[in-house]
Amino acid sequence: MPCTKFLKLTVLSFSFGIFAHPVAEHGLMRRDQQQHLASTESYTLVNSTSGVRPYRKYMTTNATSPKFVIERSGQAIAPGSLFLTLSNLLGTGENWQGAVIMSSDGDLVWAGPKGATSNFRKQTYNNNPVITTWTGDGSAAAAGGASHGYGQVQIYNFQYEVIQTVCPTATDLNIQFSPGTTSTCVCDVHESYIKKGNIMLVTVYNLTQADLTSAGGPQDGWITNSLFVEVDIETSKALFVWNPLDHVPISATHESWQHDARLHSEASSDKVLYTVFNDYNGDFSTKNPSTGITLILDMPANNSKKSLQPYAYILDPAQPLPALAEGSYQLIHNDTAFLGYGVFPIVKEFNLRSGSSSNLKYTAHFAYENYTASSYRSFKFDWHATPCAPIDLVIAAVGANATTGGNYTAPGYGSGSFSGSYEKTGYVSWKGATDVTTYGIFAQSNGSGDCVDTGYFFDKKGFETAFEISTGLPSIQIVAFDGSKELVRSSTTAV
Ligand SMILES: *[C@@H]1O[C@H](CO)[C@@H](O)[C@H](O)[C@H]1NC(C)=O
Ligand SMILES: *[C@@H]1O[C@H](CO)[C@@H](O)[C@H](O)[C@H]1NC(C)=O
Ligand SMILES: *[C@@H]1O[C@H](CO)[C@@H](O)[C@H](O)[C@H]1NC(C)=O
Ligand SMILES: *[C@@H]1O[C@H](CO)[C@@H](O)[C@H](O)[C@H]1NC(C)=O
Ligand SMILES: *[C@@H]1O[C@H](CO)[C@@H](O)[C@H](O)[C@H]1NC(C)=O
Ligand SMILES: *[C@@H]1O[C@H](CO)[C@@H](O)[C@H](O)[C@H]1NC(C)=O
Ligand SMILES: *[C@@H]1O[C@H](CO)[C@@H](O)[C@H](O)[C@H]1NC(C)=O
Ligand SMILES: *[C@@H]1O[C@H](CO)[C@@H](O)[C@H](O)[C@H]1NC(C)=O
Ligand SMILES: *[C@@H]1O[C@H](CO)[C@@H](O)[C@H](O)[C@H]1NC(C)=O
Repeated sequence: MPCTKFLKLTVLSFSFGIFAHPVAEHGLMRRDQQQHLASTESYTLVNSTSGVRPYRKYMTTNATSPKFVIERSGQAIAPGSLFLTLSNLLGTGENWQGAVIMSSDGDLVWAGPKGATSNFRKQTYNNNPVITTWTGDGSAAAAGGASHGYGQVQIYNFQYEVIQTVCPTATDLNIQFSPGTTSTCVCDVHESYIKKGNIMLVTVYNLTQADLTSAGGPQDGWITNSLFVEVDIETSKALFVWNPLDHVPISATHESWQHDARLHSEASSDKVLYTVFNDYNGDFSTKNPSTGITLILDMPANNSKKSLQPYAYILDPAQPLPALAEGSYQLIHNDTAFLGYGVFPIVKEFNLRSGSSSNLKYTAHFAYENYTASSYRSFKFDWHATPCAPIDLVIAAVGANATTGGNYTAPGYGSGSFSGSYEKTGYVSWKGATDVTTYGIFAQSNGSGDCVDTGYFFDKKGFETAFEISTGLPSIQIVAFDGSKELVRSSTTAV
């Protein structure tokens, strides 16, 4: 899909009028002649109707974002944005769930399509930074209730265009579903890791008949067999399947409730760093504190006995959190641990450098802490993006001085109309843009022709920014700047 980075100017209907401030007559004004307008952050806080989470809604988009409650120790935190997959564990009425990117300050950066999602993260594909996310497909998302799912993995570029959809099919892979489940794609929620060379490692659940007598079950029993499958990203064909039934006896199966096991620097030495999020609550009746665990895995080249040595247990002693399921441990460089507590909707960042393994830097709470909402894994990535999607601009007469006049449509508020003379508020957001610092206003200086730089600009404040505009403006455009560089313009909006 081609990306129109700079939108073509389309002049909509306009009302003839005079800008209350002088409009530059010939194109761009010099920066030092520009006029700085006041602007404010804009959102409406809504309390959850189903007891899952409070959220923010906006004038310019139907996307919503969780309300963050943030605690900081004062130490510098790692740069970057938070990647969460919000889901409602009760499966009832909540008006949104999906992948979101949030700033550490609790501002929305980007929200993906509404729906079941997991494993939302930055990875590298074809030497470029991309984001990947699992999304449920058809009735498959319902399999999430059985702690797995069937779906596809989408790869987005830095403009939020889907550049690949990884969809190994049930037919191609010969996968048997549980009764009542249908899905075209069979990727499971738990893993979608891009290896070198255009290969993605995914998990796939296959209903398989097995003799379960060794584990106290029936002879003609069934297991949901967790396959590891390497898939060619471009063709979605399986390149390699690892079937645990071929290697691990059923009697040796243990449910130990750890998540996000990772090996680090695997190629470089015989000592490998191994990290895992330890829920430590296999039995739901317990409420043990969950930890991030770092282990040193000794893998002698001469093939003598491998050993695991504990290195660090990461815990906030002031707030030990019992995650009953899910969770993640991300090592950022070698000095920062970023923990997501899964079904306990909290993330924490720890400093590992100080010698103390529990040196807390940052906590964000993003839903009610009563096991009603979760983020399967939570990550922090230094992510820079310039979306293809246009800047969203809404003009509405909603200020204290507003009188009725004209028509408006705002996604969070519906439509309305007003007439006569008025002051209005403009609302602007650019979903997914990470580097915008200011917005400029372009307008028609009279009833026709191009929009020219009015010389007025205002600071971006939060995800959505509100600014005041005056009576009788003709059509306007909003221009987004990254420092002094113009990134994109909104389409023309009649005021
Ligand atoms: C939302 O909930 C908070 C805390 O429970 C409460 O203080 C606030 O008044 C509520 N807001 C609305 C609009 O109901
Ligand atoms: C979870 O907590 C919220 C906020 O206190 C409350 O409104 C909701 O009813 C609780 N839900 C459950 C299932 O306990
Ligand atoms: C917002 O609207 C778009 C287009 O109508 C739709 O695809 C999307 O799912 C909506 N998002 C939410 C969170 O409702
Ligand atoms: C899935 O299980 C079925 C038996 O239920 C088996 O015939 C098939 O080969 C398995 N698929 C894979 C990829 O192992
Ligand atoms: C294998 O290597 C380890 C250290 O790398 C050494 O301690 C051990 O003695 C060696 N074992 C054999 C059988 O050579
Ligand atoms: C961590 O990384 C820094 C710079 O990349 C390096 O100087 C330092 O030795 C590393 N520390 C450890 C414990 O590996
Ligand atoms: C409304 O208009 C009056 C008079 O122009 C001005 O003093 C006041 O600040 C305006 N209020 C708002 C909320 O814009
Ligand atoms: C506002 O909407 C109404 C009903 O759709 C329409 O008749 C009217 O012309 C619109 N007014 C303006 C100024 O666009
Ligand atoms: C409006 O201004 C443009 C230049 O900004 C000029 O080319 C055009 O002739 C003007 N139109 C009218 C109706 O004055």
